[in-house]
Amino acid sequence: MGGKRIILGVTGGIAAYKACELASALSRRGALVDVVMTRAAQEFVRPLTFAALTGRPVHTSLFHTPGGDFVPHIRLASEADLAVIAPATANFLAKLAWGLADDLLSTLLLALRCPVLLCPAMNTAMLMHPAVRANLQRLREMGYHIMEPAAGHLACGAQGPGRLPEPEEILERIADLLAPQKDYRGVKVLVTAGGTREPLDPVRFISNRSSGKMGYALARAAARRGAAVTLVSAPTALKPPKGVEFVSVETAREMYREVVSRFPLQDVVIKAAAVADYRPRVVAAQKIKKKEGTLILELEKNPDILFELGRQKLPHQVLVGFAAETADLEANAREKLEKKNLDLLVANDVTRPGAGFGWDTNEVKIFYPDGRVQPLPLMPKEELAHRLLDIVREIRTLKTTRAEG
Ligand code: PMT
Repeated sequence: MGGKRIILGVTGGIAAYKACELASALSRRGALVDVVMTRAAQEFVRPLTFAALTGRPVHTSLFHTPGGDFVPHIRLASEADLAVIAPATANFLAKLAWGLADDLLSTLLLALRCPVLLCPAMNTAMLMHPAVRANLQRLREMGYHIMEPAAGHLACGAQGPGRLPEPEEILERIADLLAPQKDYRGVKVLVTAGGTREPLDPVRFISNRSSGKMGYALARAAARRGAAVTLVSAPTALKPPKGVEFVSVETAREMYREVVSRFPLQDVVIKAAAVADYRPRVVAAQKIKKKEGTLILELEKNPDILFELGRQKLPHQVLVGFAAETADLEANAREKLEKKNLDLLVANDVTRPGAGFGWDTNEVKIFYPDGRVQPLPLMPKEELAHRLLDIVREIRTLKTTRAEG
């Protein structure tokens, strides 16, 4: 979303408070958010709140505009990459469905040429009213994107559909609408994520600090670009991305089975998971009791999944490994790239602030089989995921050209 210009239209419903969170989340992702509020919206939230959250002036009037902008609706419309109306009231939907333009937001909507996402939110009875249903249908036919309201407890005390979806879900839809072309349509991509857990007894395990964020970002980005994605994930606290086949595993050996059995059908495999190299040799049937003295654990080696994939790799398949390093990054990365027969190795120095385990950002060096090294700056994991997919697409094109030539 970095640098994208997004219009956030806020109309007069109680869910306007959730639009504050949405404005903040969009700004944190680097979008330039122009908030446009109706008069009724300002009864619920002050423009100052949005100005502080976005760091930009808030637009409330066709006539009295920040910086003496005399045709704000045309300027805002011409610059916008996307507009989202959250919440969209019954009154606003009716105006838009019938082309009324009696304030800044409704006038601006008629001038827009970018995708528009409408997020209706209102009482269930209002939402079910035939006039509102008909207006929503009419707007759909005009090409507006409409998010179904969520069901649950409403501000009026009733239960049912009508809630504004959570800002995270609206963000997902916005990212889908802003996604680049579907350049992965028809491509099968398998991603691994998270840190495997190797049990010691029924209540304890050995694991690592992987949150799964890097792998989930890759799976989400590939799905947005049209790929058929399988995400094989060790336990994480994350929600599986929409539209991916989700395979949940716990141990390295489970991950080995799920990944190796699916490998022949994949075009691309990206192994962002942190897989335990060792597991306890014996898993105690009962909880290990505290005793005097030290406790010595005997560990045995887990299978190396990536090594096995590298051994089985077919000429058209692209295999990408990650390496989490704390020292000798270059030497270790080159060794892994070669030993595991990879097309790309993404190495992160996990001692650097903002890089590796748990962060929303990562800073990596990419190693190629021909000896090239490409350092990438610190960036959000979502952005890095797209950068890596761009590189994988180039490798695939090269492999196809070679096969045809
Ligand atoms: O999950 P996050 O919190 O977002 O953090 C991201 C990350 C740091 C986990 C990720 O960027 C990363 O570096 N993942 C790989 C971590 C790792 O296990 O590195 P490694 O150097 O130990 O393994 C090298 C490669 O071999 C990895 O692709 C790994 O998936 C694979 N491997 C390792 C051991 C094994 N038994 N089987 C494997 O397939």
